[in-house]
Amino acid sequence: MEITKIVRFMRLLKAISELSQINRSKTLALVPTMGALHDGHLSLVKIAKSISDITCVSIFVNPLQFAPGEDFGKYPRTLDEDLEKLQVYNPDFVWAPSVEEMYPNPPALLQANKELADCLCGLARPGFFDGVVTVVNALFEQIKPTSAIFGEKDFQQLLIIKSMVQERNLPVEIISAPIIREESGLAMSSRNQYLSDSEKILAANIYKELTAIKTSNTSIDSAGKRLTELGFKIDYLEKRWGRVFFAGKIGTTRLIDNL
Ligand code: PAJ
Repeated sequence: MEITKIVRFMRLLKAISELSQINRSKTLALVPTMGALHDGHLSLVKIAKSISDITCVSIFVNPLQFAPGEDFGKYPRTLDEDLEKLQVYNPDFVWAPSVEEMYPNPPALLQANKELADCLCGLARPGFFDGVVTVVNALFEQIKPTSAIFGEKDFQQLLIIKSMVQERNLPVEIISAPIIREESGLAMSSRNQYLSDSEKILAANIYKELTAIKTSNTSIDSAGKRLTELGFKIDYLEKRWGRVFFAGKIGTTRLIDNL
C-alpha cells in the first residue's frame, strides 16, 4: 500500500492583505515574538502546535516598546535564520509585517494595567508595557487567535497581557510556558547575543543567586551585594507575586530573570 505523506509548509506573510489566507474556522494558537529565535521561543511553538489546529508565529520588533536610547536599532533581526529554526516545528504561518503594515500612522497607544505596570520593569522602562499591550492587541486583531502562548521569562508581561485580555473581554486564552535555560542556568534571551563569552559566564550568577534566595540560603541583600561586586548594575532584585525577580545590566546589556 502506498503511504501518502502530507507535508505542510509554513507560509511567510508580510502584508495585512495576505492574512485572509488564514483559516479562522479552526483553533489557532499564536506565538508573538520579536525574532532572533532561540530554544525558549521554540518551546512556545511546540506548545502551540500541541494545543491547536493551526499555529502562527509572529516576528515583529515593536518600536513602541523601546525608549529612545534603548536597543531598537541594534536589536538582532535574523528572519532567514528564524525561518530555518522554525522548520523543526513547522508552524502554518509566520507573520512578519513591517512597521507600516502593523500600525496606522500615528499608532493609537493602549495603556497597560497601571497597578501591574507600576513596578519592576514598568519603573525601569516607563511606557514599555503600553507598547507591549498595544502590539499584542494589534496582533490579536490581525490574527484572531483562539489562544496565545507567552513565556514566564517575562512574568510581568504575562500578567499584564492576561489582565488586558480580561479588561477588553477578548476571546483569547492566554497560556503560560516555563522558562528555558542554558545548561549554566542563564535564561535564554535574544539579548544574550550581545554578551561576550566572559559576560555569559558571569550572567549565570543571576540564576545562581535567584536559586539561593528561593531556597532561603541567602537574603536578597547579600545576593544583591554579590551581584553588584561581580559588576552587575541592578535595576531590581525583589520578591513579588510569590516569585523573586531580577533585572540588571552587565556592561550595556540588560537582562531579566525570575524564579
Ligand atoms: P520576545 O522577547 O521575543 O519573547 C517572545 C516570547 O518568548 C515571550 O512570551 C517571552 O516570554 C518568551 N520567551 C523568551 N525567552 C524565553 C525563555 N528563555 N523561556 C521561555 N520563554 C521565553 O516578549 C516579547 O518578545 C515581546 O514583548 C512581545 C510579547 C512579542 C511583544 O512585542
